[in-house]
Amino acid sequence: MVATNNTNYDRQSELKAFDDTKEGVKGLVDAGITEVPRIFHQPPDQYIINSNFDSEATQFSIPLIDLEGLEFDSPTKRNEIVAKVGEASETWGFFQISNHGIPVGVLEEMKDSVRGFFEQDTHVKKQFYNRDPLKPVGYNSNFDLYRAPATSWRDTFRCYMAPNPAKPEEMPEVFRDILIEYSKQVMKLGKLLFELLSEALGLKPSYLNDIDCSLGLLLGGHYYPSCPQPELTMGARKHADNVFLTVLLQDHIGGLQVLNQNKWIDVPPMPGALVVNIGDLLQVLSNDRFKSVEHRVLANRVGPRVSVPCFFTTGMLPLERDYGPIKELLSEDNPPKYREATAREYTAHFNDKGLDGTSALTYFKL
Ligand code: OGA
Ligand code: NI
Repeated sequence: MVATNNTNYDRQSELKAFDDTKEGVKGLVDAGITEVPRIFHQPPDQYIINSNFDSEATQFSIPLIDLEGLEFDSPTKRNEIVAKVGEASETWGFFQISNHGIPVGVLEEMKDSVRGFFEQDTHVKKQFYNRDPLKPVGYNSNFDLYRAPATSWRDTFRCYMAPNPAKPEEMPEVFRDILIEYSKQVMKLGKLLFELLSEALGLKPSYLNDIDCSLGLLLGGHYYPSCPQPELTMGARKHADNVFLTVLLQDHIGGLQVLNQNKWIDVPPMPGALVVNIGDLLQVLSNDRFKSVEHRVLANRVGPRVSVPCFFTTGMLPLERDYGPIKELLSEDNPPKYREATAREYTAHFNDKGLDGTSALTYFKL
């Protein structure tokens, strides 16, 4: 293992040189590198790393919730599902859902198209390379490249889909139609999830939708190339999502892990299922009842891995609405734990900080 000391080399100029290629991590792999460059070397993590050989890890994973039957208007069935969603959001902050209504063919086409975007002609792809979060469409490698203590083995596409969707002609041609179709379906599913989450908090079903939790949708596409030395780096550094809610589609490779009781637990790929996780803003609204849990993605010799996160957030919009713990949930025994702030303030703080391993919420704690 190569010793890495970030102060021993001119990290900033190596980052700049990497950024200037506009080809991301995939460009390095295509060029045939056999060693992971030092900008990607990660400091060791403090938590125990589970391997697939750890029997505990295989017995223990995030809940799978079957949404089958919700559409039949059976209050018993709905209450059963609401209870499972609430329990999973309080204990794990993560769950998988099956029978969510998005056809498998749409999921497959979405993943294939993200792969297609990254594997298209480099000259076309480079035209989308930018680091301007105000641009509705773009791709880059590591949104926090110049701030994070170590670079992740990952390239990422992003596109704003609601409330002001990018114009179709701004979207990459390779997956324009499926972006629009998939986002439409995720938006419908997101609204349903916010209803279930509202009910789990004991609020009226429309509560979270009424306060605009489902107003904004940012669609991402991650491409994690195969990695020659996966033990030296990470696909995504430890972080929590600074949004209301994330709905993630992952392929069959695996590598996503969530932190539970100081252990990293695998989120196993399940064909046809979607991963749902509570974001920081929902943790704030629920006054810590729902948990925005830290997670990460391991680098892998096998690849590429593709995932499609859909972030419900309005953090990019100049909206005035303040978010703090929901008044109806507070009492003398449950005083507010956070001050109010706009979604944009939460997001700006998170983005400035980058994925440095600390929670963006501390800053807003009372
Ligand atoms: C994210 C994220 C996980 C994955 O985009 O915030 O955690 O599996 N992605 O790509
Ligand atoms: Ni995440």
